[in-house]
Amino acid sequence: MDTKNEEEETRKVEFEPVEIEYVSYGGEHHLPLIMSLVDQELSEPYSIFTYRYFVYLWPQLSFLAFHQGKCVGTVVCKMGQHRNTFRGYIAMLVVIKPYRSRGIATELVTRSIKVMMESGCEEVTLEAEVTNKGALALYGRLGFIRAKRLFHYYLNGVDAFRLKLLFPSPELFSSLPMITNNEDSHRHTDHMPPEECCELH
Ligand SMILES: CC(C)(COP(=O)(O)OP(=O)(O)OC[C@H]1O[C@@H](n2cnc3c(N)ncnc32)[C@H](O)[C@@H]1OP(=O)(O)O)[C@@H](O)C(=O)NCCC(=O)NCCS
Repeated sequence: MDTKNEEEETRKVEFEPVEIEYVSYGGEHHLPLIMSLVDQELSEPYSIFTYRYFVYLWPQLSFLAFHQGKCVGTVVCKMGQHRNTFRGYIAMLVVIKPYRSRGIATELVTRSIKVMMESGCEEVTLEAEVTNKGALALYGRLGFIRAKRLFHYYLNGVDAFRLKLLFPSPELFSSLPMITNNEDSHRHTDHMPPEECCELH
């Protein structure tokens, strides 16, 4: 990518939070939008079958964020029985660079978690690269803990943390009606060193 394109791709866009429209997965026309965002921003390559698996079986758990008709973020999830627990799983979460740090990912993921909770999930899990400070901070604020470290989990050789949110989470409840940014919501932090990770299984 040349420097000009790179600048355009990262330059912040001015917008009010109310201008962002959140919609749940609405059919095949949303699939290329999701795929394009995820392919751009996540290190793991996914086939169209993987995307279809998620959005066909759990359309109610996938959301897209639009600004003036442009798709700027998405979350893709599933849920089901895992051993003796009914659990939700966040597979993909992406917000394009010019729209980051304005709460869009928090809103997307909170919407999915709310549906999971209403559907009877007892917990939510996901994996994040141990180097992904932004994602670890975001999930930490929502009350996720680091349940496991998975060595060389990704194709690029990077380790993952398995993150887990056990319901009920007061942080999540307090963040559901609106996105909060108060002191209290920063209690679960981003900076827990790996040695403090707890193995839950
Ligand atoms: C991780 C990612 C999804 C976060 O998206 P985001 O929309 O920037 O996330 P949020 O805005 O909800 O939260 C991030 C930050 O915005 C801040 N924020 C939240 N709401 C805000 C608001 N209304 N105004 C200003 N800042 C806000 C948060 O406090 C947080 O602050 P920090 O950057 O100091 O940690 C995004 O960086 C991304 O797509 N990364 C690449 C893909 C990826 O890593 N996905 C996760 C895989 S596990």
